[in-house]
Amino acid sequence: MVWDCAKNWNTLLYAGKRGRKRMFLSSAFLAALLLLSGCGKESGRKTGGTDHPPKEGSERITELSASESGSLIREESGGKEKPRTDFHLNEEPIAVNRGEQLTIGFSQIGAESDWRLASSASMEQVFTSDNGYNLIFSDGQQKQENQIKAIREFIGQDVDYIILDPMTEYGWDSSLQEAKDAGIPVIIVDREVKVEDENLYTVWAGSDFRLEGDRACAWLEAYLETQPGLKDSKIGIVDVQGTLDASAQIGRSDALLEAVKKHENWELLAVECGDFVQAKGREVMEQMLKEYGSRINVVYCENDNMAYGVLEALENAGMKAGTDLSSGEVLVISFDAARQGLEKTLQGEIAVDTECNPLYGPILSRIIMALEQGDELPKRNYFEEKQFSSLDTVSEAVVNDSSYPVVMLTEELILGREY
Ligand code: AHR
Repeated sequence: MVWDCAKNWNTLLYAGKRGRKRMFLSSAFLAALLLLSGCGKESGRKTGGTDHPPKEGSERITELSASESGSLIREESGGKEKPRTDFHLNEEPIAVNRGEQLTIGFSQIGAESDWRLASSASMEQVFTSDNGYNLIFSDGQQKQENQIKAIREFIGQDVDYIILDPMTEYGWDSSLQEAKDAGIPVIIVDREVKVEDENLYTVWAGSDFRLEGDRACAWLEAYLETQPGLKDSKIGIVDVQGTLDASAQIGRSDALLEAVKKHENWELLAVECGDFVQAKGREVMEQMLKEYGSRINVVYCENDNMAYGVLEALENAGMKAGTDLSSGEVLVISFDAARQGLEKTLQGEIAVDTECNPLYGPILSRIIMALEQGDELPKRNYFEEKQFSSLDTVSEAVVNDSSYPVVMLTEELILGREY
C-alpha cells in the first residue's frame, strides 16, 4: 500500500548533468503503473506498519529488497517533457538499460555492524555495470573526515551522483556546497544531515529512527503491563547508545528519554556510547554491571551488534537474559533485526528487535532513475519497518495512537529474510 503523496511532493527536477538525452515511458506502461500505484487513495486509518501516514512532504517506502531486478523499456517521447508525479519508490523497476553508464560515488560509513555489511552488499548488488552503473565505493572507516575526503574525490572524478550515508548529522555544509557548485546531485541515505540550506542535497531516504525507538518503548510498556507482579516496581534501565550524533542514536535515545519521563517507575540508571560495535557494547555493559549489578532490569541496546556484546557481558557476569524480570532475568531490547539478532530473539535472549532496513540499493537506483527522467520525488522518503518478538504476549505497539503489529518470529521467517 502506498500513500498518495502527490499533493505533498516537492518538485525536484534535475536536468541531467551533461544534458543527457531524456527518454520516456511508453504511455501503456505509464497507465499500468498508475493502476498499480494506488495513487489517490486516502486513508485516515490509524494502524501502523504500511498504513502509517507519512510525514509532511515525505513518502513511506514499503518494499525493500536487495535482490530484486527489473528492466524498464522507455521510448523517446518525441517532444514534450513532463515531470511525472506518480513515481512511487516501491513499484518502479530498479534499473534501466540506458546504453550509457552512470558513475555513482558512494561514501559508506564503515563496516561496524551486520546491518552496515548488509547495506554495502545491497548497494553492490544493485549498482552493477549490467544495471548501467559504475559504482565507486568508498569506506569511511568510521571517520567523518574520510567521508568528507571521499566527497571531494568524487567531485574530482566528476561522478554523475554522490550517495552519502553520513556518519553524524553535522559538519557537511561545506563539502555538500562543493558538490552543489560542481553540479553534482547528492542523495543522502540512512542517517540524515542537518545543514543550513536543505538544497545542498537533492533527496533523502532512510529510517524513521525516532519511530523505531518509540515502538521499542511502546512494546516494553505493553509487556510490563502483562506482568501484574511488576506493577509499580522500579524498572532499572540502561541505554547502550550508538555513535553519538548519528541519526540512529539521536532518534532511539530520544524515544527512551521521553518514555522514561512518562513512567514514574522507569529509572534510567546509565547511558553510555557503544558506537554500534559488538566489542564496545560488551565493554560498556561490563562497566554498567560493575556499577549497577542487579539493579539493571532492562538493557535498551541501540543495535544488534552491541546487543551481542551485551549478552556476552551478562553471561560472563552469571546473569541471564530473558523476560522473567521477577526472577532476576535482564530484558534486552535491540534494533536492526539482522539475522543473528533475530535468531537471538527467537531463542528469547533478545526480547524485541525493531527492524532498521539496510536494503537501500533498489530504492536509490529508483531515485536516480526518477531524477534522470526529471520526475517528481518527495524530499524525504521513509522506509517501512517491522518489529519482531518470540513472545506472544504483546501483539501490537501503540505510538501516538497508531498501532504497529509485532511480528511473531519463526525459523522460516528468519530464513526467508535477506540479511
Ligand atoms: O544508521 C543505521 C544504524 O547504523 C544501524 O542501526 C546500525 O547497526 C548501523 O551501524
